[in-house]
Amino acid sequence: MTRKRVFSGVQPTGDLHLGNWLGAIKNWVDLQKTHETFVCVVDLHAITVPHKPELIAKNTISTAAQYLACGMDPKLCTIFIQSQIAAHSELCWLLNCVTPLNWMERMIQFKEKAIKQGDNVSVGLLDYPILMAADILLYDTDLVPVGEDQKQHLELARDIAQQRINSTFLTKNEPILKLPEPLIIKEGAKIMSLIDGNKKMSKSDPNDGSRICLLDPPELITKKIKRAKTDSFVGLEFDNPVRPEANNLLNLYSLMSGSSKESVLEECIEMGWGVFKPILAEATISKLEPIQIRYKELIKNPEEINRILKEGKTQAQEVAQATLQRVKLALGLLQEMD
Ligand code: TYM
Repeated sequence: MTRKRVFSGVQPTGDLHLGNWLGAIKNWVDLQKTHETFVCVVDLHAITVPHKPELIAKNTISTAAQYLACGMDPKLCTIFIQSQIAAHSELCWLLNCVTPLNWMERMIQFKEKAIKQGDNVSVGLLDYPILMAADILLYDTDLVPVGEDQKQHLELARDIAQQRINSTFLTKNEPILKLPEPLIIKEGAKIMSLIDGNKKMSKSDPNDGSRICLLDPPELITKKIKRAKTDSFVGLEFDNPVRPEANNLLNLYSLMSGSSKESVLEECIEMGWGVFKPILAEATISKLEPIQIRYKELIKNPEEINRILKEGKTQAQEVAQATLQRVKLALGLLQEMD
C-alpha cells in the first residue's frame, strides 16, 4: 500500500520558536515514520516582507539544521529549499491566473501583516497564500501539519485546487490536483505570547521576551519565563477565559514535561507563580537541551547540511515536475517536444 504524503514548511525568518516546534515540526517528526514526508524551508515566503539579503541564506541553513536537530531524518523524509525548485514559482504563476483577487483580499494574515506595513506592502505578500498552495499541491499532498493560524490558507489551497483547477479544466476522469487536508493537533496548535496570552507567539513580535526560541540558552529561557505576564488570581488553572496566560503557561508545562493536562492540574492547582515559573523553566530547558546539543554539532558542518539539501532537491524535483506538467497540460500550454 502506498503511504499517505505529508508536506509542510517553515519560513527562515530567524530562530524558530516553541510555537513553530509544537504547532508544526514536532508533528512532522512523528509523521515521517508512517508517511512519505516532504519538508521545505520556504525562503521565497520569507522575502514577501522587507528582509535583509545578508541574512536569508544563513537563516535558511540554520532552519534546515533546526529541522534536523528536532529529529527530521533524511533517511525517512525529504528536506529541501523552496527557491531551489523552480516548479514552486511556476505553479504559483499558473494558480495566480485562475484565482480571483477577492479571495486573496480576505486572507486574515495578509490583512494583519499589511496593516503593520502601511504603504510598503508588496504584491508578493498578497500572493503569499497562492505560493503556499503551489507548495502543497505540487506534491499531491494528503496531509499538511501546521498550526491553527494556517487553517485559512489550507482552505484556500483546497478551493483553488477544486474550484479553479479540477472543476474547470478536468478533461479525463482523474482529478488534476489532489485536495490536501490540514492536520492541526490541538495541544500545540496555538502557543501564545509570553507577554500577552491573547496573542500568538510569533517571530515578528518586536519584543524578544514574547517568545522562547529553540536555541535560547538556559539563562535566557529562565529570564523570559520569569518575566512572562501573569495574573493575581490564587492557584493555577486551565481554560478560564479571563486567565489566558495561566492557560498558556500550564499548557506549555504539559507539553514540555510530557504530562497530561489532568496531572499538570493536580500538580499545580495550588501553586503560586513564584513556585510554578522555575518548574516550567526547568522543564523547558531540559526538553530543548538535546535539540540544542544536536544543533551545535550539525551547524559546524554546513557541507553535510548542503549535501542533505541537494539530495532532497533531487527527490522533490521529480515529484514537483510531474505535477507541474499535468497542470500546464490541463491549462492548454504547448508541450515541449523531446
Ligand atoms: P511560519 O514560518 O510562520 O510558521 C511555521 C509553522 O509554525 C506554526 N506556528 C505556530 N503554531 C502554534 N503556535 C504558534 N504560536 C505558531 N506560530 C507559528 C505555523 O502554523 C506553521 O505551521 N505559511 C507557513 C509556511 C508555509 C507552509 C507552506 C506551511 C509556506 N508554504 C506549505 C505548510 C505547507 C507559515 O506560517 O510559516
